[in-house]
Amino acid sequence: MPRVYLSPPHVTGREAELVADAIASNWIAPLGPHVDAFEAELAHVAGVPYAVALSSGTAALHLALVVLGIGGGDEVACSGFTFAASANAITYSGATPFFVDATEGTWTLDPDLLDRAITSRQDAGASVRAVVAVDLYGQCCDYDALVEVCARHDVVLVQDAAESLGATYRGEPAGGQGALAAFSFNGNKIITTSGGGMLVSPEREWVEHARKLSTQAREPVAHYEHVEIGFNYRMSNLLAALGRAQLESLPERVATRRRTRDRYMELLGDVPGISFMPEAPYGTTNAWLTCVVIDPAAFGADREEVRLALEAEDIEARPLWKPMHLQPIFAANHAFGGDVSARLFERGLCVPSGSSLSDEDQDRVVETILRARR
Ligand SMILES: Cc1ncc(COP(=O)(O)O)c(C=O)c1O
Repeated sequence: MPRVYLSPPHVTGREAELVADAIASNWIAPLGPHVDAFEAELAHVAGVPYAVALSSGTAALHLALVVLGIGGGDEVACSGFTFAASANAITYSGATPFFVDATEGTWTLDPDLLDRAITSRQDAGASVRAVVAVDLYGQCCDYDALVEVCARHDVVLVQDAAESLGATYRGEPAGGQGALAAFSFNGNKIITTSGGGMLVSPEREWVEHARKLSTQAREPVAHYEHVEIGFNYRMSNLLAALGRAQLESLPERVATRRRTRDRYMELLGDVPGISFMPEAPYGTTNAWLTCVVIDPAAFGADREEVRLALEAEDIEARPLWKPMHLQPIFAANHAFGGDVSARLFERGLCVPSGSSLSDEDQDRVVETILRARR
């Protein structure tokens, strides 16, 4: 039986047609009409007027901070429960991240704790400039509360929407809640360009500045003139063609992932010791990855025993993100709270959730989980 992957790429429609079109038109070096169209289409889906297509979500986060003028000597608050890229991008800018834990109810950034954390850093004399709030596993943060905290402290809210394309917050698409937002089209995401990202914002100037910086910050003259440091971060026309085709089926992809999550809940929801990532009342998750929390005493096996049982059946599962305050590289950074994400890391497992997962394969996953009990 073929291996069951956690979240593999899923080709559903016109991918080959649009990539072939890019090749046939010779727009393969590097920009072209598919890049412009992908930006417009993604901006529309995210409900945000301006977008620039980039080589990765990490590049989008990095440029968000650069266009805000954040650099050495500054501090940026960051969701502690996240993938390292959120924090790495802060360090690329020269700023120092400090970490704030999640709430039990949403697994996303805790607004009250964020408030106290920023106050604490500001009282210590730190120049806190921004917050990187991460929409975890496809669930938006509680933005009404975060916007208020950021306004009170005069810091900019950057939305790490790498995992939340197609989710909603209070009826609005994910991506419009931050002053700037970063999407990822990495191979494991809900849509992929094999690797890529997008920076979106209602502020035209920030997006245009990021666009300039992403192609080595050339000045608009015939020769190569530079007045600021640039980056090689632009998305190619070939990959934008792939992204456009993937984006066409976003609603179906979200529906399929949510159905997969619901089916796991039906099949495992009553099993003692098993619970799921809660869905916050203020929005809808895209259910990018279904996350299971295992209480070893009640279930009869711990998270690692379950993961190894799945691996023995050639089924890929992954522990939840290891929080940043437990990462050796960030051991010296300030952290506020951390118990919520530490406990979730210890007990949580992401199970196969791709939009191409069959019911049969999902049944195999469920049976293997149940058989892992001692
Ligand atoms: C929360 C989060 N932030 C940032 C990124 C970085 O995106 P990319 O891999 O496109 O650089 C990812 C995913 O990879 C992510 O999950």
